[in-house]
Order: sequence, then C-alpha cells, then structure tokens
Amino acid sequence: MEIPILIDPGNRQSLQAQIYDQVRKLILGGRLKPGTLVPASRALAGQLGVSRNTVMLAYDRLGAEGYLQMREAIGTYVSFELPEDCLTAKRVAPANQAKVQELSLRRPIAFEGRAQRVFNDRYLAYDFFLGRVDAHSFPIKAWRRLINRAMVTAGTRLLEYQDPAGVLGLRKAIADRIGPARGINVDPDQIVIVAGCQEGLNLTARLLLREGMSAAIENPAYQGAAYLYESYRARLVPVRVDENGLCIDDLPEAGAALLYVTPSHQYPMGFTLSLERRLRLLDWARRTGTYIVEDDYDSDFRYRGSPIAALMGLDSHGCVIYLGTFSKSIGSGLRLGYLVLPKHLVQPARAAKALLDNGHPWLDQVVLAEFLARGGFDNHLRRIRQTYAERRDCLTDWLKRYFGEVVISGAECGMHIAWHLAEDLPRAVELETMAAEHGVGVYTLQSGAACDFGGCAYSERTLMLGFSSLTEQQIRSGVERIAAAVDAARGTRPARGLRSPSLPISRVRPRLAVAKP
Ligand SMILES: Cc1ncc(COP(=O)(O)O)c(C=O)c1O
Repeated sequence: MEIPILIDPGNRQSLQAQIYDQVRKLILGGRLKPGTLVPASRALAGQLGVSRNTVMLAYDRLGAEGYLQMREAIGTYVSFELPEDCLTAKRVAPANQAKVQELSLRRPIAFEGRAQRVFNDRYLAYDFFLGRVDAHSFPIKAWRRLINRAMVTAGTRLLEYQDPAGVLGLRKAIADRIGPARGINVDPDQIVIVAGCQEGLNLTARLLLREGMSAAIENPAYQGAAYLYESYRARLVPVRVDENGLCIDDLPEAGAALLYVTPSHQYPMGFTLSLERRLRLLDWARRTGTYIVEDDYDSDFRYRGSPIAALMGLDSHGCVIYLGTFSKSIGSGLRLGYLVLPKHLVQPARAAKALLDNGHPWLDQVVLAEFLARGGFDNHLRRIRQTYAERRDCLTDWLKRYFGEVVISGAECGMHIAWHLAEDLPRAVELETMAAEHGVGVYTLQSGAACDFGGCAYSERTLMLGFSSLTEQQIRSGVERIAAAVDAARGTRPARGLRSPSLPISRVRPRLAVAKP
C-alpha cells in the first residue's frame, strides 16, 4: 500500500521530520485508521526516493510517541490508543470506570444553572421567533464607515486598558438619549456599558444578591433573569402580573433584596405597567428598602400612545437600576447595552465590571457612540419602527381573519405579541407542535424564553409570536399554515388545506388589550 506523502527537497525541515509530520497528520486526520498497517520502511523509502534509514528514524519517533506499534511477523501498524485520544479523553469524557470514579470524587463546581432560550438553532420556513431584528435592517454601510473612521483615530486605545465603565462619548450619547426618550436625567458617570441586558442583570445580581436572599420577580418572567437568580441560589418570590402589569398588592410586605420587572412591555405577556402602579411600586421599594431592577429591553418600539416614563425617571429615592440594550434596535449579535445606576451604586458597579472583564471592547463602543451622536440611530429607529408597526398590523389582521375573535396582548409596544387562545383552539403546547409540523414556529411561554412559577393564569393558553423578522408575506403564509394545522387536527381540512376567514375583521370583539389595526 502506498500512502500520500510528498517530500520536498527544498524544505528546511529534514526528510525524516517531513515523513514524521505527514504520517502523524494522516493518523490524526483519520486517513490512517487504528490497526492499519503502514508500508514497510523499505517500501516507503522506495516510494519516496529516500534512504531506508531516514524512514526508520521517522517510524521510530512515531513509535516512541505512541502513534505506531511494531510487531515482528506482523509489521508496523497505527496504534489503537493514540496519544491525542488519551488527551481528549481526559478532557472530555472518562473512557473507563476508573476514570468515572475519579471524577465522582471531585468536589462539585460552585455554579449550578441553566441557560435561557434566546438562541434559535432550528430552521422553520415561517418562524415567529421572539425578539429577532429584521435581517436586512442592520445599518451596514454606516457601520463600516464608522469602523474605518474609528480605526484612523484609535491611537493607542486598542492597545491599552480603558475605563471599565465604558467610553465616555458613548455614555454621554446614551445619557442625552434617555433623558427625552425615557424621562431619565442622569450624569454620564451613572452609566456603565455592558454586553447587553444580560450582563447588566449579572452585575446587579453581583451587587445585590447572595445565597438565600430573596429576589422578587414577575410571574411569568423572563428566563434570563429567573435562571440567573436561581443560579445565585436566591429565594425567588414570584409576583403575579395582570393586564396592568405587576400586581402591587401581591408584593412581599417585607420587601426583597431586589425586584426584577419589565414595566414597558412585560416579558412575556406584553402588558404595560400603569402609571398608578408605577408610583405605588416605587413607594413600596422606598418603604421596604428594595432595589428595583428595571429591564427596558424593547421600549424603543412603542407604536401607540405616548410612552410612560421609565420607573427610574419617576424615582427620587435611588431605588431603581435601569437596564437598556441595543439588541432589539440594532442587533443582539452586537452585545451592547447599558446599566444606569443611582449615584451611590456607581463605584461598586464599576468595580464589579472591572472584575468581570476589564470593560467592553473599545471599537464597538466608539462606533455606536458616533452612530448615536450623528443621528444615524434615530433615523434607523424611525425606519424599522415603521416596518415593525406594519408587520404587527399584518399579524393581528391575519390572526383575526383566520381565527375570528382573537385576544392579543402586548401589541402597543415591542417585537412580539401574546395570543390568548380561545377555548375552541388546542392548548398552546399542542398548537406549537402542530404549527411546527406545518413549518411554522410559534412559542409557548416556556419555549419562548419565559418561565412560569406555577399558578400562572396564562401558561396553558398563551402563544407568543415575534413579528419583527418576518416579511408581511411570510406573516400571512405563517398564519394561514397555523390555521391549516388546526383544521387538519380537527379533521375539518378544506380541500386546499386553508381555512377561509372565519369572521370579518369588523366583528372582532376586544377583551384584553386587543390590538386594533
Ligand atoms: C426581557 C428581556 N430582557 C433581556 C433580554 C436580553 O437582552 P440582551 O441581548 O441585551 O442581553 C431579552 C432577550 O430577548 C429579553 O427578552
């Protein structure tokens, strides 16, 4: 048998080293399998036009390192237990019982936790996945131009550590923005740039939470917050939400180390916390000494009515920590968000951020700072807000067209709606499966990165549908397919698989916060 080895006489490596390297690569690449006989040294020397001694020296080295075995009467063959195998086995999985036992003697790691489901790894033709930006909306030209400009002026900034709280220009641009947009008037020093809301949640938990402390949280809630507090072994105190947001009367009288809340667009239900409740919530926080963690993840998209000021904008006692993100407005791959802190928490937060990662990458921050300061962000937001409003209208229209009296919450704001399924429709978990079989992704609370702590009135009959990343044509087809899936399950499938619209739009009767086209 000949093996594919090429000898290059002009190579600075010795002939012996070239043979050794190439045979080793053939073994590790799987082209020479364990147990395979390699050519005898004389044969390989003939094939390559080198001396037999050169080949023998290369084989000796491969033998000494465990790649080859030599047996008289059989010949030279590839080892059954390769050195790299052993290394991988030690790293990845114990190969035998002794190793399993050895592992079980190890101390358990301190971290215990699960991950929120925000990463979408399946492909469905019509996927109403949550919180996804439109694939064509990224301001690629402007971004490229700003990166080039930043590189010209970078100086030593890519070489040196920078302020862990973030680039001052970006913090100023954010402070300038959240004043008018969210009613939060703060000094740029009160802002810390983080890798999205999720890192902000981690930093605040690091500041406020220890094992056994209580963390009050909406029920249902965003998994990213619930699972994080769970990983701190905090005592989670679920607080009911209804059509006006968090139920203030259900808050623990004794307070908590923190309360996590999404007032603009409750995740997952989409309710908006009323002003009256906001004021009562702040009063409760002040009385009980509880910190409120306000996650304002998608408030850039408000389609109707004027936005209510953020909790932080209404707070005069330093009880609120605010989390903002560019994941929904520009893209979640950017990993850029910010934390706004009451003054007395700024120094601990800066220290926590420094300990975590020495600060966010400089280049991303300056590009975003310029994008904000030069008006690019406002233009971008205006454009996609309009597109998303049209998609939301299309989705609600089409649901009404095919399912009659649909009850929807959360349509005034954000990138998803919650569809409260009527009694004559299958339960959410069943409809999710049936839709997936028809190529459509719709999400129950659990599969849509939410978490219910039991006793949640919405779990069984709520489906979540993100509309921001689908075109209107895809939305229409997706809804038609959901309807076809329901008809197929009922055995009432019309000839072409689609239901005809069940009610004219004008007969749709709102119950909860029903979106009007
Ligand atoms: C309620 C809520 N908060 C925070 C996040 C995470 O945002 P970021 O990408 O900024 O970490 C999400 C993501 O979908 C979310 O739904």
